[in-house]
Amino acid sequence: MKILITDGLAKDAIAALREFAEVDEHFYEPDALGEALKGYDAVIIRSATQIRQAQIDIAKTGQLKLIVRAGVGIDNIDHAYAKDQGIHVRNTPSANANAMAELTLAQLFAVSRFIAAANVTMRKGEWNKKNYRGVELAGKTLGLIGFGHTARLLADKCAALGMDILYYDIVGADDQVPYTYADMADLIQKADFITLHTPASKDGKPLLDGSAIASMKDGVRLVNCARGGLIDEAALLEALTTGKVAAAGLDVFVGEPDVNLDLVNHPNVSVTPHLGAQTYEAQARVGKEVVDVVKEELC
Ligand code: MLT
Repeated sequence: MKILITDGLAKDAIAALREFAEVDEHFYEPDALGEALKGYDAVIIRSATQIRQAQIDIAKTGQLKLIVRAGVGIDNIDHAYAKDQGIHVRNTPSANANAMAELTLAQLFAVSRFIAAANVTMRKGEWNKKNYRGVELAGKTLGLIGFGHTARLLADKCAALGMDILYYDIVGADDQVPYTYADMADLIQKADFITLHTPASKDGKPLLDGSAIASMKDGVRLVNCARGGLIDEAALLEALTTGKVAAAGLDVFVGEPDVNLDLVNHPNVSVTPHLGAQTYEAQARVGKEVVDVVKEELC
């Protein structure tokens, strides 16, 4: 069996794959990827590799049977098309959820206490204590949009910090959780902090556009560690400038890694370069789950 890893994988997982397969590690540009995939039974990718219809059309003439996304989001794969062509697409839905929840929590602290901006100005020799009076999380309402693995872990952590939890999910309320379900319009109006936990929208339109932002509380704080494009970046920048949105924590961006530098440099924005799953623990769990998926599918 031949396996290609294009965006890296935990060392232990690569060693485990090598016990039963020939494994190559190589990143291919989109133009060369389809042809390369013809020679492999499975390809394992993270977020940098895009497997679109063009690559699938070439790969399907070879031996490719399986695409594994080492992570949650499969928006970088034309997965419905791959399935139609008989190529299975699998992901690791919960393996990095705690890492994602912890980074979202870190961004919640960052947007409430000016941690990013204070770092930047202090390194320039400034002591801006008076400018950086923040707000506390305790006693505030957190609205989670999307209520999968990551959001549930985050809700528990934030409830422990004394936040009131509202959540919305496309599948509706879950009677098993001790939190309050709200429809999205209601959540948007009531929350002091809003975090996003959904996949990219299918039509590419932002979930939170200018009119959604307009209906939020004045001084709302937003965190997006889910997918770039879920918040309209131009509308967000405008709302940060007017103060409608007090601060935003962003780990994901439209067109990343080529990001909107006006947004990234806004003093009330805390940014990280798509680090949600970037912990040793999460990558070890993801790697283990990837190996299990490959064995289940191909052995
Ligand atoms: C994911 O979809 O799993 C996350 O975006 C993390 C990542 O791929 O780095």
